[in-house]
Amino acid sequence: MGLLREGINEIIATTAYNAAPMGIHLRNNHLTMVLFSGSHTAENIERDGWVVANFVHDPVLFVRTAFEDLPRESFVDEPVNGRIMQRLSNPDAWAAFNAIVEHKTSEAIMVRLTLEKEIIEGASVHPVNRGFNSIIDATVHATRYKENQDPKLQQLIQYHAGIVRKCGGKREIEALHILQKYIF
Ligand SMILES: Cc1cc2nc3c(=O)[nH]c(=O)nc-3n(C[C@H](O)[C@H](O)[C@H](O)COP(=O)(O)O)c2cc1C
Repeated sequence: MGLLREGINEIIATTAYNAAPMGIHLRNNHLTMVLFSGSHTAENIERDGWVVANFVHDPVLFVRTAFEDLPRESFVDEPVNGRIMQRLSNPDAWAAFNAIVEHKTSEAIMVRLTLEKEIIEGASVHPVNRGFNSIIDATVHATRYKENQDPKLQQLIQYHAGIVRKCGGKREIEALHILQKYIF
């Protein structure tokens, strides 16, 4: 299964000049995504049948791609088995997948992935940092909070913000400021 690990891999998914943080599930050698209806990622995958997983460790990029559209120059065209796919311009690594919608409900699509090509662009070491991990958690809650303004989610975001302030570096703090601008 290449670069992905058992469980849910939090990557930045690129589809037709679009980027968003998404989870890729690896269980029993099967790769899947569950995409809530209405996202650009879900629409593009249904239409084009491919997705690229970008492996990045920049907390700011996770927050920005969750809430904003990136400019076109953030993407690189990548030929993969006769199709041109877009990936981010400077990920640590990327993996390109064929993507087939296996199941569809009114709320979500379930997508089955098959690996087509993967490249490690530059290996770097990332010590575990709770501040980084909490940015990821806070951003997941924030994308849902924006939809429903659930006060429980607000509490969870505040909890993770505390960990980011305590354990994060400058980049995590910058990501937190951007996140707060989007939701409060
Ligand atoms: C770490 C992380 C993981 C996420 N995983 C998923 C996911 O697996 N499925 C999903 O539908 N949304 C997921 N989201 C929410 C999307 O990123 C969010 O809805 C985003 O705005 C979609 O952007 P798009 O419209 O450009 O596709 C995740 C968010 C974060 C921060």
